[in-house]
Amino acid sequence: MTGATVPPHTGTRPPRLAEDSPGFLARIGQGWADREVRAPVDVAAARAAAEHRARLSAALPQRTVVLAAGHAPRRNGDADYAFRADSDFVWATSCQVEGGVLVMTPRPGGHDPVLYLPPPAGPAERDFHAGAARGELWVGPSAGLAAWSTALDLPVRPVADYDGREADDPERLRTVLSDLRMVKDEWEVGQLREAVDQTVAGFATVADEVPRAVSRGWGERWLQGTFDRHARTFGNGPGYSTIVGSGEHAPILHWVRCDGPVLPGEALLLDMGVEARSLYTADVTRTIPVGGAFTPAQRSVHDLVEAAHRAGMDRVRPGNTFSDFHFAAMEVLARGLHDWGLLPVSVDEALAPEGQQHRRYLVCGIGHHLGLDVHDCGSSGYERYQGAPLRPGMVLTVEPGLYFHAHDETAPPELRGIGVRLEDDLLVTASGNEVLSGALPIDAAGIEEWAARRPA
Ligand code: GLY
Ligand code: MN
Ligand code: MN
Repeated sequence: MTGATVPPHTGTRPPRLAEDSPGFLARIGQGWADREVRAPVDVAAARAAAEHRARLSAALPQRTVVLAAGHAPRRNGDADYAFRADSDFVWATSCQVEGGVLVMTPRPGGHDPVLYLPPPAGPAERDFHAGAARGELWVGPSAGLAAWSTALDLPVRPVADYDGREADDPERLRTVLSDLRMVKDEWEVGQLREAVDQTVAGFATVADEVPRAVSRGWGERWLQGTFDRHARTFGNGPGYSTIVGSGEHAPILHWVRCDGPVLPGEALLLDMGVEARSLYTADVTRTIPVGGAFTPAQRSVHDLVEAAHRAGMDRVRPGNTFSDFHFAAMEVLARGLHDWGLLPVSVDEALAPEGQQHRRYLVCGIGHHLGLDVHDCGSSGYERYQGAPLRPGMVLTVEPGLYFHAHDETAPPELRGIGVRLEDDLLVTASGNEVLSGALPIDAAGIEEWAARRPA
């Protein structure tokens, strides 16, 4: 990476910065052809954002709304992490420009929106050649404010004009946004379909690489990198840190270290999601047998998780509350664990709020809303999220699992070191649900057969 602030310094004389040299300044500022830079947003995305702003305006009459895209966090020295715009800002603007701010000023009957953006520096300005964060010669060209205004049909002004005003009641604003974002419109569902389809393709790409991960000893790192490359090629990137856990790592819920081997005979848990270029993400999990066939113990765990998954998905329909699928899946798991002699109490005692002994083997939640964020709408409240009726247009995950750690002395030896999760992305429809990730099998035999179809 090129030093942005510290020039190379060799010898005894202080180096002369090029940007101080009159000769350089006279030379760099001219001789550049004008060219049009389009705002990277399409008509459908801009229209969806306009509708989102209208809903936000109706939900918060007489309130000033301020949403900021944010800035990339510092990584070290003068190097930043990759920028990813704030999801509320993207929902309301379909713009992903670092440093952008949307202000919606209330007026009788609605709001007047203004989008503030950093204007690109022209060749005569210092930032053009010296601005490592946004300068065209450093990071490439950016669309001008007029181009953004045309693309979004919105007044756009330089961010220097933003007066620093804050939102009225920012906490309520976040809550309202979570609630509004819960039901996806047609355009958003299209984006999620694309993210899920690319994720399903990514599962095949990763499965194709399992033999190499084993034979070359490249292990989990290779598979994680394989999915991330796929996600970057066919979307914006992974929607969250890709989880690849083989064998003893599979029961670790978010095994993103991915630094272990992948060995024949292990069950391999893959939890992966492509984030589309619009930033909507998928979140899908399958557990596959590394050698091509599950061991009897792996298969029995998979069968129980599958039964819980089917019971949970069956409850995803309008009229049921969000938490219904959770309780349905939990009941199946508790019964199965009881049958295996792993519960110290009856099923009813375990399912009671003060019991929950079965949760030793799955300490996490088993589903969440999905959208611009993998755990979408997290600022909502219990009554409007887990306790609320499902409505058409909601998109959520169902993801039961069982996790028997290698050092769990309550588990029989044959189950230790086995982790299985099944995770699908479901769209709530008028009559039930559609499994967006349904192209991947969920039964053990189907997964074996799917894995066998991959080239060796
Ligand atoms: N990958 C995070 C989750 O499944 O919720
Ligand atoms: Mn999930
Ligand atoms: Mn997941």
